[in-house]
Parts: sequence; structure tokens; C-alpha cells
Amino acid sequence: MAVLPSWVHILVGCFSASLAWASNLSALEPPLWKESPGQFSDYRVENGVYIVDPWVFPERMGLYKILLNQTARYFEKFAPENEQNILWGLPLQHGWQYSSGRLADPTRTTSCGYASGDKLCISVDSWWGDLNYFLSSLPFLAAVDSGIMGISSGQVRLLPPPKDEKKFCYDVSSCHSSYPETMNKWNAFYQYMQSPSSKFNDLLKYLWDAHTSTLDHTVKSFEDRYDYYSKPEARFERKWVMAVEYIAAALFPTTLTRIHNFQKGLPPRVLVSTDVAPFISDFTAFQNTVLFVVNKLHNVNFVWKNFMKIEVTGKLILEVFAQLQRFLK
Ligand SMILES: *[C@@H]1O[C@H](CO)[C@@H](O)[C@H](O)[C@H]1NC(C)=O
Ligand SMILES: *[C@@H]1O[C@H](CO)[C@@H](O)[C@H](O)[C@H]1NC(C)=O
Repeated sequence: MAVLPSWVHILVGCFSASLAWASNLSALEPPLWKESPGQFSDYRVENGVYIVDPWVFPERMGLYKILLNQTARYFEKFAPENEQNILWGLPLQHGWQYSSGRLADPTRTTSCGYASGDKLCISVDSWWGDLNYFLSSLPFLAAVDSGIMGISSGQVRLLPPPKDEKKFCYDVSSCHSSYPETMNKWNAFYQYMQSPSSKFNDLLKYLWDAHTSTLDHTVKSFEDRYDYYSKPEARFERKWVMAVEYIAAALFPTTLTRIHNFQKGLPPRVLVSTDVAPFISDFTAFQNTVLFVVNKLHNVNFVWKNFMKIEVTGKLILEVFAQLQRFLK
């Protein structure tokens, strides 16, 4: 334990505590979940192809809703009501991006994403919206490709944003050719998920492997976006990618309740130039601590990654810092 950087302990702990179980799981769902499309027939159809506009929040969220619905049966054996479906992490993160204002146009040249303008719009200039594009479209399209969604590979297409069209892919075949390794990793996750003997921890390994591969292959395309943000927000974005590496290395269980609780520690609005953690007055102690720790992170090294994969140690650290989070609330 002594060899590990102590901030990492705190981070993993903050992201891990979740002792309280909600009695009503629908209260934990992301914003506009109920209003989002829940089946393919809720989308427009052109020549037998479902057309999704992923630059409109509920339409993108609908991809997750269908995905969660179609994969529910593979997680039933772990808990009722789809609570242990580890794909919940994705829509919950997207919900936090929306409610914290991170999907809005950071250049403010349009009203895209602002309450006073086009609230449901996802800006192509939003760094968060761009990376989430791949964390929604690739898992969704790979699921279609894996045959678990009840439609064939050519039956769904996503619409391009108003600019930078070349930075994105739009259907199963074009995403396969642009991101073969990442699509294969999402496919591998769905293959393993369908095995009757699938184990929770191994599912997490496949999921995090696909998730980190998605970021590794896309984050560079959007480095120009950092300039649109205040220094503290741009720093948080860069560090957040590292934080995800740590969370992945710890095989954080991305279930509904766990992610809901951990997100209470994330910055509830876009950071401005005067924000200095841990002294942001409109943030909770938990939010200030998480931001402070995330800002301290350095790249994950291999020793650490392998260390965290030792299950017993991982559990011990989760346990210790569950206590810490309760203290910080
Ligand atoms: C659960 O919460 C949702 C929204 O918060 C509410 O609409 C629903 O009626 C609640 N269900 C129960 C059984 O309490
Ligand atoms: C999946 O969606 C169908 C149709 O909307 C619904 O009847 C069913 O309850 C959903 N299943 C789960 C596990 O959410």
C-alpha cells in the first residue's frame, strides 16, 4: 500500500462509496430518461433504416435506453430491475454532462445547449459531447453488430453534426472501418456477456477495456476544443481522461446505484476561471475534494494498473474510502 500515491487512494475511494440503496431505482435514472426513445420504432425510418440525430440529447440518450433494455436479460442473474447492468455508467455520465451544462456550445456563438436557447441541443464544439459521441455510438453500434438488438447491421444510421463531419462515423460499417480495434473490443464485451457462465468481474474487465480503447482512439481528435474553455475546465477535461484510466484500472463497478452516488462528487457546473478547488464555495466538500484530487493525477503507470487488478487489494481500498466519502458528505 505504501508504494501507492495517496491521492489515488482517495480518488478511488471517492468514486467507490455507495452504501445506501435507493428504495426507488427510477429516481436514479438520468435526466429525460422517461421522455427518451425506448425502442427503435420511436425513431424516424427512411427506407427501412432508423435515423437517429445524436446531436439532440433525448435522441442520443435513447440509444442508451434501448441498449440498457436489450441487455437487461444478461444482468438479471446479478440483481433484479437491471440495477447491476454495468452499462448504466454510460447514460448516467451523459446525464451529468447534460445537467452540468457541459453539452452546450462552449464558444457561445450559438444558443446550442443553453436553457435560454436550444436546451436539448448537443454542441459539436463541446469536448464532452464529442467524446460522449463515441461512448454512445460505438457501444450501441457494436451491440447492433453483435446481433443482440433485434435489427440488422445496416438498419440504423446516425446523423452528422453541422460541421466537422469527418471526425465522426455514422453506422456499423463506417465505425468498423474507422475504429476496428475499439469496435472489436465492444463486440468482445457483448460476446462474453451472452455467455451463460459470464462473471461480474470479467464483464467489468471487458467493459473497461472497450471504454478505455474508445477514449484512446478519439481523444486526440478533439484537442482543439480545450481552447474554448476556461483554464480550470480545460485542465479538468485533460485530467478527467486520466481519472477514467484509474477508475478503469480499479475495475469500478458501473452499476446504477454506484454511479449515481459517485456522480454526486463531480463538478455540478462548468468550471470558470476563478474556480480553485478545494475552495469553490458553491460546491460541496465532496465535489471540492474530488476535483482537487483529479487535478493532482498523473498518467497511470503499468505497475499501478496491475496492482489495482489484484482483486483483494482493490476491495480493501474501496472499503476504506467508502468510509471517507461518508465523512465528506
Ligand atoms: C419512483 O420515483 C418516480 C420518480 O421519482 C415516481 O414517478 C414513481 O411514482 C416512484 N415509484 C414508486 C413506486 O414510488
Ligand atoms: C424494455 O422495453 C419494453 C418496451 O418498451 C418494456 O416493455 C420492457 O419492460 C423493457 N424491459 C426492461 C428490462 O426495461
